[in-house]
Amino acid sequence: MEDIEKVGIIDFGSQYTQLIARRLRELGVYSEIYSPDDVEQVLNSRSLKGLILSGGPQEAHVDAQHLTVHQSETHIPILGICYGMQLLSVVSGGKVSSTHTREYGLQSVDLQIEDPLFRDLRADEQVWMSHGDSVTELGKGWETVARSGDGTVAAIRHKVRPQYGLQFHPEVTHTCSGERILSNFLDLCTCKRDWNAGCYITQAKEKIRKQVGTGRVISLVSGGVDSTVATLLCVEALGAEAVYPVYIDTGLMRAGETEQVRELLTSHGMDNLVCVDAKEEFLTALTGIADPEKKRTIIGDLFIKVLEREVAKLHGDSKDTFFCQGTLYTDLIESGHGCGKQAAVIKSHHNVNPPIIRAKREAGLIVEPNSGLFKDEVRRVAETLGVPHALAWRHPFPGPGLGIRVLGEVTPERVATLQQADKIYLEEIHAAGLYNAIWQAFAVLLPVQTVGVMGDKRTYGYVVALRAVTSQDGMTAEVFDFPHDVLGRISTRIVNEVDAVNRVVYDTTSKPPGTIEWE
Ligand code: XMP
Repeated sequence: MEDIEKVGIIDFGSQYTQLIARRLRELGVYSEIYSPDDVEQVLNSRSLKGLILSGGPQEAHVDAQHLTVHQSETHIPILGICYGMQLLSVVSGGKVSSTHTREYGLQSVDLQIEDPLFRDLRADEQVWMSHGDSVTELGKGWETVARSGDGTVAAIRHKVRPQYGLQFHPEVTHTCSGERILSNFLDLCTCKRDWNAGCYITQAKEKIRKQVGTGRVISLVSGGVDSTVATLLCVEALGAEAVYPVYIDTGLMRAGETEQVRELLTSHGMDNLVCVDAKEEFLTALTGIADPEKKRTIIGDLFIKVLEREVAKLHGDSKDTFFCQGTLYTDLIESGHGCGKQAAVIKSHHNVNPPIIRAKREAGLIVEPNSGLFKDEVRRVAETLGVPHALAWRHPFPGPGLGIRVLGEVTPERVATLQQADKIYLEEIHAAGLYNAIWQAFAVLLPVQTVGVMGDKRTYGYVVALRAVTSQDGMTAEVFDFPHDVLGRISTRIVNEVDAVNRVVYDTTSKPPGTIEWE
């Protein structure tokens, strides 16, 4: 996208790099993320309006070769964040040291000099810090604009060039005026603020056309918003005749889901939907398996095996066929594939890791138009594409489905029990008008039995845990503050209507330290 005005983000391995890109999109500006090896190329781009240097796990005094003195002397506005600020300092002759105080979490900073970057901010601001190293000596031509309580340099500016360094992270929501600071930086870059979901769609279609050419695409649909958006983008880019939607019923879907998916896709004109009934295969493969990661691997591998079989039926040899997936940025980062080089594997998301997908990815045959987006951004793209509101804002549902919500061994009976409980839970949430206030709600079937009493008789039944969280992107989540009367109604209905269950509990763990799913 050489001709569109943009802000370049150099990714030094921060967990937050995509968050910076997301904030810029929210502020109406297009950005691209580059590797540190591309600084020279980025600076030579005609459409570059500004450059952001991300944070990262390296030590600036060791890794300063990431930026040359010549590059740092550009008159394009630069904002260095955390490691990025330290790099700007070291390159101009300053010193960074790890012996100074470490700062993690919320800190107060004093803004000491009035500056356009801090326009409309208070003299003392709450910011989010996450660093061990600090700038202990400023580089030539730089001055301090803010310090934190103990005197640590929190922000610097160049006396002549439009360049800044922030030790804290303006991109995370904990920095109260973070968005204001980024917006002020974009003003300094004289960026137009006209980037929106429509521009995103045009760009995504262009990318798909470039990638796929005259090829054909098998699109994996689940009925959720992510795969629907990915499929519709392919259809708009390539025409419906080049896209083959495939839906695999693993038997691990919610009650009535398969029928809904079929209806929805047909109503969107996809009359070539291949609906594969693989319930028995999945449940057989899961027999006797209780370990969460093993379950995820089995479900993911079998999913691909079934898919390959169906693809072969459709197209014979599938070597050149593209696969389209709804993978989001959060799926990639949690599986250790995000921009952050140090990103740790939390859970193996099943659309990211299987060998065949890896092979397709390496061969450039994976189409993932949502892979730079967060969930709420996909929802906005969905609405712009004309996807009905109820689908666009439907709660996320994980690829391995109820396989990771039936804790312990997955059996057909236990899946049926969970489906009943989950259906009641969602019905009551809708009835109470709470569905849109919750980011994700679902029931979990625990592999423990507890004693109860019903009609003067002892019962020994299973426990259902209810989960409901609010979140912006699934990376962090807060427990939903459920009205107790609604919780009470849900609990009574589940215990009365679902035979195997005699106890219902509510999960009060936020993320972190918990994850949203239980497995
Ligand atoms: P966790 O449990 O990691 O979940 O906090 C964050 C979000 O991701 C969803 N999730 C998945 N989605 N494949 C998916 O497509 C998966 O394997 C998977 N595991 C978790 C989860 O439902 C939540 O929305």
